Amino acid sequence: MLDQNERQVRQEERIRRFSVSDRVEHWLQVITFVALALTGLIQKWPDVGFSRWALTTLGGIEATRLIHRVFATLLLLAIVYHLFTAGKRIFVDRAPRTMVPGRADLRAAWQGVRFNFGRDQEPPVQGRFTWEEKLEYWAIVWGTLIMTLTGFMLWNPIATAKFLPGQFIPAAKAAHGGEALLAVLAILVWHFYHVHLRHFNTSIFTGYTTRGEMVKEHSLELAAIEAGEFDPPPTEVTERRRRRFMPAYSVVAGALLVGIYFFVTFEDTAIQTIDPPENVTVFVPAPTPTVPLVTTTTPTTTTTESTTSTTGGTEPDSWVTAIEPVFSAKCGSCHKGDSGFASLDLSTYATALAGGATGPGIVPGDPNSSVIYEKQDAGGHAGQLTDTELATLRAWIDAGAPETPADAGAGGGSASGSTWDSAFAALLADSCGACHGAGALGGLNVTRYALAIEGGNSGPGIVPGDPNASEIYATQAAGGHPGQLTDLQLADLAAWIDAGAPEK
Ligand code: HEC
Ligand code: HEC
Repeated sequence: MLDQNERQVRQEERIRRFSVSDRVEHWLQVITFVALALTGLIQKWPDVGFSRWALTTLGGIEATRLIHRVFATLLLLAIVYHLFTAGKRIFVDRAPRTMVPGRADLRAAWQGVRFNFGRDQEPPVQGRFTWEEKLEYWAIVWGTLIMTLTGFMLWNPIATAKFLPGQFIPAAKAAHGGEALLAVLAILVWHFYHVHLRHFNTSIFTGYTTRGEMVKEHSLELAAIEAGEFDPPPTEVTERRRRRFMPAYSVVAGALLVGIYFFVTFEDTAIQTIDPPENVTVFVPAPTPTVPLVTTTTPTTTTTESTTSTTGGTEPDSWVTAIEPVFSAKCGSCHKGDSGFASLDLSTYATALAGGATGPGIVPGDPNSSVIYEKQDAGGHAGQLTDTELATLRAWIDAGAPETPADAGAGGGSASGSTWDSAFAALLADSCGACHGAGALGGLNVTRYALAIEGGNSGPGIVPGDPNASEIYATQAAGGHPGQLTDLQLADLAAWIDAGAPEK
């Protein structure tokens, strides 16, 4: 009979559980897992406050991607090492296959659940690895396999697309992020509960456990150790096996290392953030420069300018072609519809002109009184317009803030723009005269104002105020007819008809 003291000593007797190599592997797992989870999840949810902070702290998204890949590579190397330790255990030491799950584990799991619910008096009797530990190990094996495969697809999308349909790449992304979340939750819930909360098990760090813990959790293993089942075989035997194992492993490891090298270096994709293509509005300065003086000029100057641009062939910007696309891309998230910030709705021409809380958004002809221009010109506001965009905006307001290209062509909708005499007599004679002169193909003669209005066989050539009812405009707008007018000429034509098609 052992007395109390002796029993206590025996309980605390240290038993070796993990080798140095096991402990190194665990540390590799801890480091790569934490680093990958951290750098991965902040990429998955970049908008969360913590992610923003972390992304900035790590040096930006590109640095974060790079760090993620460095640790992914380390994890791959850790796998190659694990194949060595596992292979050695199986082929050299021929140690019992303590990590392979079996029927006994199903029974232990069932009994464990019953015990936790108070339905069984005793916890299950288990071997070197409990069913909880096996489940976790194989979950990591499975999870790492998925992460490696999907990670490869994300890292090397071009190589992947050679073998698989393109949809596999976004699918891989979804699987990569989903599995990552699952793994983190499994570690936090399952692993932390079993080894830290239930009782703080330090054996993977120290390499030792106590006899008392062995009795509680690994009593079958304790019995096997004491029966000598875990004793290493004689050295000459292991030496012989090692001589066969090492070359075989070297071949496997060599192949894997080549694979990893390919994995890591094949493509340099998805590290750099490529800016989405920008729709650059080409700004061709009108003959009248946009120096501050212009803003105080009278409408006559504006008209002259537009007239010049009409005949000069530069395309004037309009709300539809140049302004609305920029606003919708850069301001739409905050200034759209009735609920826009500062009651400002930039999604339509009318509401943009009307402006928001402070007053008219756009005052045609006067950028400096236009709150929208002022706000962006002052800088520091969300959706900051580029210098080019600002210049375009300014020139557009200066030119009377036309809504459509047609308005732009007609000098901001003013009827005093181009006339038959000043522009269209010459244009139509040049472009159409060969067939619609004296020969009047289709009954249409465009060499005189009255005849052009009258039109040809199918109806009036020009209906003042209504471009679409005007055969001359409609035929050319439809395209495919000889003498094809350019978009700009068409816009001018429509604007002129809109404005009543004045002759002089
Ligand atoms: C991230 C949201 C956000 C974006 C994007 C944004 N704004 Fe704003 N804007 C606001 C908020 C909030 C206010 C009200 C506070 C203020 O005046 O700064 C405001 C106010 C304004 C006002 C003042 C309205 C008034 O009458 O007082 C103007 C003009 C304006 N924004 C123009 C723009 C333009 C032009 C863009 C795009 C180039 C833009 N904003 C993009 C949030 C945004
Ligand atoms: C190479 C010769 C040619 C040129 C150049 C040409 N057209 Fe025509 N166009 C025709 C012929 C042929 C017809 C009649 C057959 C048809 O309707 O397609 C016609 C018919 C039309 C009609 C329909 C007349 C009607 O009432 O049926 C319109 C309108 C018209 N042209 C407009 C124009 C305009 C505007 C231009 C110049 C921008 C132009 N065409 C240049 C050959 C030409």
